[in-house]
Amino acid sequence: MKGLPCLTFAWGTATSAYQIEGAVAEDGRGPSIWDTFSHTPGAVDNGDHGDTACDHYHRWPEDVALMKELGTDAYRLSVAWPRVVPGGDGPVNAAGLDFYDRLVDGLLDAGITPSVTLYHWDLPQALQDRGGWTVRETAEHLAAYATVVAERLGDRVTQWATLNEPLCSGWIGHLEGRMAPGLTDLTAAVRASYHLLLAHGLTTQAVRAAAPGARIGLVTNHSTVTPASSRPEDIAAATRMDGHTNRWWLDPVYGRGFPADMRELYGVELPERPGDLETIATPLDWHGLNYYFPATVADDPAGPVPYATEVRLPDVPRTGMDWQIDAGGLEAFLLRLTEDYGVRKLYVTENGSAFPDTVGPDGLVHDPDRTRYLEQHLAACASALRKGAPLAGYYAWSLLDNFEWAYGYDKRFGLVHVDYATQRRTVKTSGRRYADIVRAHREATSG
Ligand code: IFM
Repeated sequence: MKGLPCLTFAWGTATSAYQIEGAVAEDGRGPSIWDTFSHTPGAVDNGDHGDTACDHYHRWPEDVALMKELGTDAYRLSVAWPRVVPGGDGPVNAAGLDFYDRLVDGLLDAGITPSVTLYHWDLPQALQDRGGWTVRETAEHLAAYATVVAERLGDRVTQWATLNEPLCSGWIGHLEGRMAPGLTDLTAAVRASYHLLLAHGLTTQAVRAAAPGARIGLVTNHSTVTPASSRPEDIAAATRMDGHTNRWWLDPVYGRGFPADMRELYGVELPERPGDLETIATPLDWHGLNYYFPATVADDPAGPVPYATEVRLPDVPRTGMDWQIDAGGLEAFLLRLTEDYGVRKLYVTENGSAFPDTVGPDGLVHDPDRTRYLEQHLAACASALRKGAPLAGYYAWSLLDNFEWAYGYDKRFGLVHVDYATQRRTVKTSGRRYADIVRAHREATSG
């Protein structure tokens, strides 16, 4: 892609354990909150669950071959905590660690650099039964499990992320109830958000201690927020939404503490202890931005926290998730992380779109909407780079169609189509386009 410089730019794809692995009861894996949630009647569309998913646990060599076919040189995966420490704390499951050991070796043999996320939402159910993210001990247990993983893989994996999208675990899982553990409790949500960020800091320190040379980051999801009008109420609503979606998760990590306006809005006492803020603000080697859509909001005094509601703009394109498409938001947020938060190394750790793809009579999957989305967002990356964002890589979400949480399998984000009945993989035309872009960039920057 024109304008994306530097030889070391990582071209990758991303997935997460529960969304693709399946094999939920195999080789000693314990249950996670997503096993529980997805088997709760009415929680997930169509009653879908991750029991088999993409069967990646057994088919990973084929999936690594697909990454190679796409010409990518990086892959962002997550390790399933309940596979490695099935009870959340206590005994380590050697067979679980062995799986990731084989996968990492397979990736490296294929010339693909793994980027390992330690927590992508699959909390061991045993810890949820003891309070989950609402209690401090869970943060300590994450750091202990991370130590086990880093000690085993740290000789080959250098790129680590602590958490994926703590906003979703905190707000969607504990306030909105649309994700595991399915709570709708502001106090629980604020406490969970605090402990997630504490877990991030403790885990950063633990991985560094266990794997010297590790480069550690945090992956957060954000939206640019615009007021729906120039009414002061809408402007204030946008500030609140920005606080809820963006500042609450970034300010403490970058040494500013939790934003005072949001503390006041939530009105929930934080479970603070001396030293926690320093732990949360442990310096990072990189930051990962997951960007999908922007938000335009209006004041909504009768609505839920943060009393701001999304306004549907007429005539703007939307994905199959009904998410507004605006690549400008990606550029803007990369620049905000650079200029406002001083981030010195950035990755787009997720970006992609869902559309209802089907395999055509020609055996191909034609997905022009996703291809356009990809091209527009890569152009936004190039523009951000030209303006000074220290962007070092892009991971397309996702390698494969997969279990899209509460939406089940109907929402397809993959560059590769998965027929769930047969587990047959078909590279979509967007995947072919991505391969062309990667190849062209590599040729333009080599030698
Ligand atoms: O599928 C999810 C992923 O697990 C986290 N980020 C957003 C993706 C699309 O909704």
